[in-house]
Amino acid sequence: MRFEVTTGPVAQFSGEALVIGIPQGSPGLDDIAKAVDAALGQYITRCLKAEPPVFKAKLGETLILPTYGKLPAAHVVVLGLGKVEELKTSQWRRAVAAAVRACKKLRVKAAAMGFPDAVIQGMGIEAASRLLAEGAGLGQYDFNLRKNLSKAGEDNGELAANGASSLEVLSVIEPQADRLEVIQRGLRVGQLVAEHTNLARHWVNDSANYVTPAFLKQQAESIPGLQCDVLDFDAIKALGMGAFQLVAQGSEQPPFLIHLCYKPSDTPSKKIALVGKGVTFDSGGLSLKPAASMELMKMDMAGAAAVIATLKAVSELKDLNIEVHGFIPTCENMPSGISSKPGDIVTAMNGKTVEVNNTDAEGRLILCDALTYAQRKVDPDELVDIATLTGACVTALGKVAAGIMGTSDTLIQGLQAAGEQAGEKLWPLPLYDEYKVFLKSDVADLINSGAKGQAGSSAGGMFLKEFVDKKRAWAHLDIAGPAWATSDVPEVPKGGTGFGVRTLLYYLYGWQA
Ligand code: BES
Ligand code: ZN
Ligand code: ZN
Repeated sequence: MRFEVTTGPVAQFSGEALVIGIPQGSPGLDDIAKAVDAALGQYITRCLKAEPPVFKAKLGETLILPTYGKLPAAHVVVLGLGKVEELKTSQWRRAVAAAVRACKKLRVKAAAMGFPDAVIQGMGIEAASRLLAEGAGLGQYDFNLRKNLSKAGEDNGELAANGASSLEVLSVIEPQADRLEVIQRGLRVGQLVAEHTNLARHWVNDSANYVTPAFLKQQAESIPGLQCDVLDFDAIKALGMGAFQLVAQGSEQPPFLIHLCYKPSDTPSKKIALVGKGVTFDSGGLSLKPAASMELMKMDMAGAAAVIATLKAVSELKDLNIEVHGFIPTCENMPSGISSKPGDIVTAMNGKTVEVNNTDAEGRLILCDALTYAQRKVDPDELVDIATLTGACVTALGKVAAGIMGTSDTLIQGLQAAGEQAGEKLWPLPLYDEYKVFLKSDVADLINSGAKGQAGSSAGGMFLKEFVDKKRAWAHLDIAGPAWATSDVPEVPKGGTGFGVRTLLYYLYGWQA
């Protein structure tokens, strides 16, 4: 989708659809909405005032009105903004996404909108622009790469609803010409944020026969402007990453440890390392998952997708005075004649031995070596890992929030605050010393699955903590729930969500409404 920024009276837009935002209740219609309402013979007001109301202006609610020549635009999309006192960044992002969805359904190729007064008053023009582009880009997303859409050009409503239709141009109309530059700036940022969230979604949605470790490697290597070093299986073995090696050895697909790096031109203010779990398919290994739990396990690389997409966004956004490293251990978890067996004991890169009593707790095995490697390689000020690590996190928090835990309250709170701005929820889970009993093995330093149904997400966190230097500021994001959506919200359609990309970008750039 392209954005065009123009100045002039919003109501005079002459394309296919004009989007008009309306708050629920007071203060009622602003000047733009009034002009449109007047041209339509007060039709919007009548819809709002009807008993029962035809349109309540609830957040994301849309009402499509053909204009029959009363306005230059063919349709008006009346868009509910929800209550003004609740109109925060995430609401505006969601409302715009809902408007774009409505345009897609109408099979509109070019639409226009201005900024409702309530939005500008709530967050200022630059944030409003960034969020407009984010919402529009996120709402636009559909995964249809592997659908035969050869009939897309035909007049087939059902096909279009399945994603053949997309909005091509969104014109942002602003009556005050002196605001155009700021708007452009905000739109550019929001567009990049949405595009890279969608990129991560795309990788998660695509199937594991395409999205292999080699595919992720190739995606990472092809990012312009970033240094990318890749360790192959021989290097992984030579460095003593016994835990990672054990998981990877069961598959025909070769594993990789990808290292991406963004370096600012000036001396960086800090160095941050992001580590993403890249299990491109998790069958469970010999501790095989039942069919129903295995079905979606192409999404077990969502952490990797978030890290690669975040770094790619940084390479395009630039303007960041932080050195950012991405470490992505990627492999498949498969049963085979040479796969790991429950009970195998391995030595991780940091010298600790691990009893692998359950080959399905593989995420912590590949991450522990990646964490050791990241710390030795770049000695980061902050270390953040992001992983679809435990089903227990889905049980605890559902699809609504990721679990967050770690060694630094400052880092955890910073990420939580960024998540709030980004529209992604992170909820803290404890790493109590008492949970150390879950790591106790009779035959090795650690066991990979000792919790047996208790505090499983914290147990995963406790395991990883064993591989983090005592003084390191570290946070672990368990995104097993929110990485995959099973119901639609306007800005997050079903399927891979790209969860984490926005939180990480908001954290790095410090964007605020
Ligand atoms: N990839 C799964 C976790 C997962 C579950 C992600 C559901 C997304 C949705 C992970 O590798 C796993 O299998 N974890 C085990 C850990 C257990 C054996 C300690 C789990 O959650 O059952
Ligand atoms: Zn697993
Ligand atoms: Zn897994």
